[in-house]
Amino acid sequence: MDQDLAALEAALAQDIANAADPAALDGVRVAALGKKGRVTELVKSLGTLPPEERREAGAAFNALKERVTEALAARRSALEAAALDARLAAERIDVTLPARPEPSGRIHPVSQVTEEIVAIFSDMGFSVAEGPDVEDDFHNFGALNIPPEHPARQMLDTFYLATAGKDAQPLVLRTHTSPVQIRTMQAGPPPYRIIAPGRTYRCDYDATHAPMFHQVEGLVIDRHTHMGHLKGCLIDFIHAFFEREDIKVRFRPSFFPFTEPSAEVDIGCDRSGGELRIGEGDDWLEILGSGMVHPNVLRAVGLDPEEWQGFAFGMGIDRVTMLKYGIPDLRTFFDADLRWLQHYGFPAQDVPSTAGGLSR
Ligand code: PHE
Repeated sequence: MDQDLAALEAALAQDIANAADPAALDGVRVAALGKKGRVTELVKSLGTLPPEERREAGAAFNALKERVTEALAARRSALEAAALDARLAAERIDVTLPARPEPSGRIHPVSQVTEEIVAIFSDMGFSVAEGPDVEDDFHNFGALNIPPEHPARQMLDTFYLATAGKDAQPLVLRTHTSPVQIRTMQAGPPPYRIIAPGRTYRCDYDATHAPMFHQVEGLVIDRHTHMGHLKGCLIDFIHAFFEREDIKVRFRPSFFPFTEPSAEVDIGCDRSGGELRIGEGDDWLEILGSGMVHPNVLRAVGLDPEEWQGFAFGMGIDRVTMLKYGIPDLRTFFDADLRWLQHYGFPAQDVPSTAGGLSR
């Protein structure tokens, strides 16, 4: 009897040790402790023994049952630990691997610089306004105090579009972003503080002029806005944009029909040695036009110039992009040459912000 028990225990121990995974181990458990298991049968067989043997045999069977149960549990946790180890090894990742390569698409320098300009003026409390590329005579010229005989209206500069009917207002491709001033003031009551970047068109083509180019307009109208605000705003902008506080800025008297007084804004530069360096030397380079909004412009949109006043400015985006990033020929902006874009373009993740450093 004792020998049989020892043999059974040894056989079960062997099966348990041989079980290679939890399913196999479960099979061993059922074969030993299940309803018809070998150990279960033993316990059941107690009833067939003579009463004087039952007590001792019962104790031996139960002790066997307990040891088998323990052996099964020990094997189960060993198998689980091994399975976890295997999974950890299989799912291991090497966090020291370099990041995946950047996508190869590039943001066009004009788009990037537009975002830079928007970031700077957003910080000053400006919002972004837009207007259509196809404008009517009133918004592009009339409301901006540009009289019918003004040279800017000549066919030479302006792209006129065919219009329906003789009496229809002439339609043009906007020659500047200034019509967005008019649309902004027509859209709601003052005060206004907007910039309006966008495409503009003039019949012109050489190394520094393209028939389609980009401008950004600025407009600030309030009750007490004056020339000091214009100067402070533009000087701050220029320092932020070129990322240098020491750039000299000069306001030079000029003329625009829609501003009075008007000033063109120059920045200090050096042209010696055939190279242009911003912020050095004693030369000047014009980068934008500005002025106090003309009373006639305010009247054209129904504002009382005695009550409301302010300033406006307009700047060529392509021009300042060439200056900031050292791009020599404007025409290359519009060639759609991928090699050029790879060289001068910006990674898509490179979103300009004044807090994060504009251009890094
Ligand atoms: N619209 C002018 C231009 O295209 C620029 C400008 C805008 C000047 C606003 C003064 C005020 O040259």
